[in-house]
Amino acid sequence: MKAWLLEKLGGLENLHLGDAAEPVCGAQDVVLEVRYAALNPADRYLAEGQYPARPALPHILGRDAMGLITQTGSGVSTWKPGDHALIIRGPVGVEQAGTFAQKVAVPADSLAALPEGWTPQQCAGASLVYLTAWQALTQWGNLPPSVVLITGASGGVGVAGVQLARALGHTVVAFSRSQEKRRRLSDLGATIVLDPADTQWRKKLLELLGGKRVDLVVENIGGAQFSELLDVMGTWGKLSVVGRLAGPVPQFNTASLFFRRLRIGGVAAGSFTAQEAQAAWREALKLLKIHDHRPLVDSVFEFDQLPQAFERLARGPMGKVLVKIGGQ
Ligand SMILES: NC(=O)c1ccc[n+]([C@@H]2O[C@H](COP(=O)([O-])OP(=O)(O)OC[C@H]3O[C@@H](n4cnc5c(N)ncnc54)[C@H](OP(=O)(O)O)[C@@H]3O)[C@@H](O)[C@H]2O)c1
Repeated sequence: MKAWLLEKLGGLENLHLGDAAEPVCGAQDVVLEVRYAALNPADRYLAEGQYPARPALPHILGRDAMGLITQTGSGVSTWKPGDHALIIRGPVGVEQAGTFAQKVAVPADSLAALPEGWTPQQCAGASLVYLTAWQALTQWGNLPPSVVLITGASGGVGVAGVQLARALGHTVVAFSRSQEKRRRLSDLGATIVLDPADTQWRKKLLELLGGKRVDLVVENIGGAQFSELLDVMGTWGKLSVVGRLAGPVPQFNTASLFFRRLRIGGVAAGSFTAQEAQAAWREALKLLKIHDHRPLVDSVFEFDQLPQAFERLARGPMGKVLVKIGGQ
């Protein structure tokens, strides 16, 4: 079969399209013929060796996909050949071969049915970002309607976060550096949209909140702006650290946490067990139904254009970037 092979760690430039052995279907696995696969920044981190996983090389990247089941293991009774499914979590693309290939072996408990009415493209890129956004929003318990600020709100996790936070009844503050994407985030339900490059953003936000402050931050970016986010948080404010697209936080005075009792907690969608992931996925789907929200697809590239798809992801998409691998 054809697959994008990562010959050695160091970067995405070590990827090439080549021939790989067909996946072996273990007793608890299914083999999925991949229709669409989605890209995530973590694929790049893994290729650069920044990720804890050290898979056997050559490795096939790619965690998200939807496709057609062609084979089931002897211990699998929940799926049958001919079913369509999407991948919701697991070792795929991390410790074992991933979805940038014509076929992939997936543990059966890492699969979910396609949500009714969704297109194949919407199905392919949804799971990781909704599970991540769900964990970031709910890891502090059931919050009453709150002010939730989401950085990198136009990206995969960001869009999912805006949709879920709105459905949970929160007031959503969304950051994007692009005027056009801020307009689209307002359409998605963000109450306040701000440009993080505006040096006056903190003053403007506090004015717009009219005396309230931010209760929860979903933080996708890191870098120099991290400390500024703490300035607008209220007493007992919480910050879920999801990503670090702008790199390490250069200067951070822990004293800024003292007086408002601020709390910071990491998010790791990969830490969900299969059962937790299935439960979180069901909750996310219920919430999406409230405003009839669907995953947002930014762009779809041909299978042989994976490097161009990664370039698009690096430029800052609005929603998910996909590759089309087979079928309709
Ligand atoms: N912890 C977990 O379990 C987990 C799970 C999934 C993802 N993540 C991480 O979460 C982060 C976001 O993932 P994603 O899939 O949403 O990424 P994405 O789709 O690439 O989108 C991120 C958005 O952030 C903005 N952005 C990108 N680089 C930036 C920079 N240097 N400075 C400021 N803004 C920047 C862009 O928006 P604008 O251009 O509109 O500003 C972009 O659309 C990544 O670091 C990813 O690795 C973590």
